[in-house]
Amino acid sequence: MTAMQDIAPRSFYCVQLPASDDFDLWRERARALVQCDVPPDRVVWIEPGATGDLFGGGEFGGRERRLPVPGDDARPVRASRAFLRLAKNAALHSDPQRFALLYRLLWHLQTNTRLLEDRTDPDVRRLEELDKAVRRDSHKMHAFVRFRRVEHSDEEEAGEHYVAWFEPEHHILRANAGFFVRRFAQMNWSILTPQGSLHWDGESLAEGPPAQRGDAPSGDPAEDLWRTYYASIFNPARLKIGAMLKEMPKKYWKNMPEAALIPELVAGAQACEAGMVERGAMQEEERPETLEAIDRAIHACQRCLIGALDNRAVMGEGPQHASLMIVGEQPGDQEDRQGRPFVGPAGQLLDVHLQRAGIERERAYVTNAVKHFKYVMRGKRRLHQSPAAKEIDTCRWWLEGERELVKPRMMLALGASAARGLLGKTVSISKARGTPHRLDDGSELWITAHPSYLLRLEGEAREAQERLFEADLAAVARRLAELEA
Ligand code: URA
Repeated sequence: MTAMQDIAPRSFYCVQLPASDDFDLWRERARALVQCDVPPDRVVWIEPGATGDLFGGGEFGGRERRLPVPGDDARPVRASRAFLRLAKNAALHSDPQRFALLYRLLWHLQTNTRLLEDRTDPDVRRLEELDKAVRRDSHKMHAFVRFRRVEHSDEEEAGEHYVAWFEPEHHILRANAGFFVRRFAQMNWSILTPQGSLHWDGESLAEGPPAQRGDAPSGDPAEDLWRTYYASIFNPARLKIGAMLKEMPKKYWKNMPEAALIPELVAGAQACEAGMVERGAMQEEERPETLEAIDRAIHACQRCLIGALDNRAVMGEGPQHASLMIVGEQPGDQEDRQGRPFVGPAGQLLDVHLQRAGIERERAYVTNAVKHFKYVMRGKRRLHQSPAAKEIDTCRWWLEGERELVKPRMMLALGASAARGLLGKTVSISKARGTPHRLDDGSELWITAHPSYLLRLEGEAREAQERLFEADLAAVARRLAELEA
């Protein structure tokens, strides 16, 4: 290393960081200091808000010096990618000693490149602790930020604006901005924290000053939806209070509308679980008795959050007592616009193959495992999102209702989501296709691929899958003919 300036005894270098999360500046300064051979005990790192008294001569008792500048012949600094990744995250921790720790590690890495492998080294252990705590804090922010709608009265700001209050433990706000911009690209939102705020207007991100809790609103109608959702997914038999508190610490509860239900649900859980064990199952509410009533009920359904998106419920269609029920995954963009199943590109491909196999679509009852279109916005487009297993299981209530009323002798599941909706468990299409599965009510379930899957393939792969699909439909057509004979 090349020292460009002599270091006088008791002198120190003082690096002022303009922001508490400014890892890039720390990195630049640390690199120069290492190249100039400045040992860790001669450097003081100051972040905003730290008192200047430290440097009044007390603790350090020496002279502050201008930062050294490495010469052109300075040796490169050694820092592995793994170290930089950990350091970048750890720099967001609220520990005032973190920058000094990172510099100590960087200093020692120059002579011991395997330092990070030494788990007994207290600095290495601390680095890992800081990294973990920051990752955890970011995870909590992703999970527990709850936006509340506010209305603006002045014309300039007209429209909906969503505001969330969050209290991070570490300096993670700016580092997580991208997550919220991607996730809520179409909304105008602000995230307020005691350390600063972020504002997104659908096009650009701006930073603002620290805020107070009272600056954020504390309730809006969307909260009822969150509460209903939480209550409906809460499973008393799975309740582990310790784990729940660890995952959802009480300090976040005040920002989460659904948390108002927790004490009540926890209190009721034991009794409820005992009841479930006794009955062998959760008591079910009564299902509508006609297809029309199911149609009305799914439009009001809030058993999962897909129904809360800007979409409409799409009911199955076809003869009330069809011998064959065809089940897809969920309506797509076109189906949502037209309010009918399988009318978009996947539906057109399905129609071609049904015709080839000699199955008349008009004689089948065609429906979906999930009744609403799940999507994310990408620009102006609504991009299909596969439903989660929990969402398929929740919507099963309606699919079973349709089955009970139509009483088909054969079911054809298109794809894994449809198969799960009918069987209540996930199966592999390649293993499950080609042979019938007997269902509890005596009907036969046949499973094949989803036509959207075929649409995503090209060339030989597509031809091969289309052949398999054709063979599956041909087998269904033969069996249907036998059953109807
Ligand atoms: N894909 C499905 O699974 N169902 C539809 O209705 C349309 C596309």
